[in-house]
Amino acid sequence: MTQGDEITIRTARPEDAERLADIAEQAWQPVWRESRRQLGDELFEQLHPDAVERKRRAVAEHVTDYPAWCFVAEGGGRVVGFLCARLNAGRDGIVAEIGNNAVDPALRGQGIAPKLYEHAMALFRERGQRYVVLTTGLDDAHAPARRAYEKVGMTPVCPTVQYVRAL
Ligand SMILES: CC(C)(COP(=O)(O)OP(=O)(O)OC[C@H]1O[C@@H](n2cnc3c(N)ncnc32)[C@H](O)[C@@H]1OP(=O)(O)O)[C@@H](O)C(=O)NCCC(=O)NCCS
Repeated sequence: MTQGDEITIRTARPEDAERLADIAEQAWQPVWRESRRQLGDELFEQLHPDAVERKRRAVAEHVTDYPAWCFVAEGGGRVVGFLCARLNAGRDGIVAEIGNNAVDPALRGQGIAPKLYEHAMALFRERGQRYVVLTTGLDDAHAPARRAYEKVGMTPVCPTVQYVRAL
């Protein structure tokens, strides 16, 4: 993909699964690095064993299990980002949830993720959803994600922090 290529959003297909897992593996590297830096190697391995494989599997399984709620961004004939979502959370089934989402690290900062969020939110509304929620980190590695979410009008609420002490 080159600068200026149009980005289109479509529903994922089973054959996208491997590419989505590859994007996820690359995109989460800074997140895992920061988490490992803060937790230390031993605790990171305890809390996030097989982080790469688990993330790959979660993304690939979402494509298979919820194909209607996995969206991909395409540019220059290639998949460059994705978003996994779920519907009907909450007591009355009116809350949609955005889950794993990522953009090819080489193509960040071009507004690709906000296009995915807007696409998903339009479909959530069509399906009677009245809210969308998601959870992300407050660490530096998640700053691009927080920025992208806030660009499409999401508001941070109920921040949490993890405490740790060696025994
Ligand atoms: C979160 C993510 C999907 C955003 O995708 P995106 O298409 O780059 O989103 P945007 O283009 O709106 O950029 C968002 C912010 O990223 C930052 N950014 C820009 N270029 C960047 C780059 N090359 N590398 C890292 N961050 C960059 C900027 O702060 C930008 O905000 P700005 O446009 O106001 O400057 C992407 O950063 C990503 O894949 N991150 C890793 C996985 C992740 O954290 N997923 C979300 C989990 S909750």
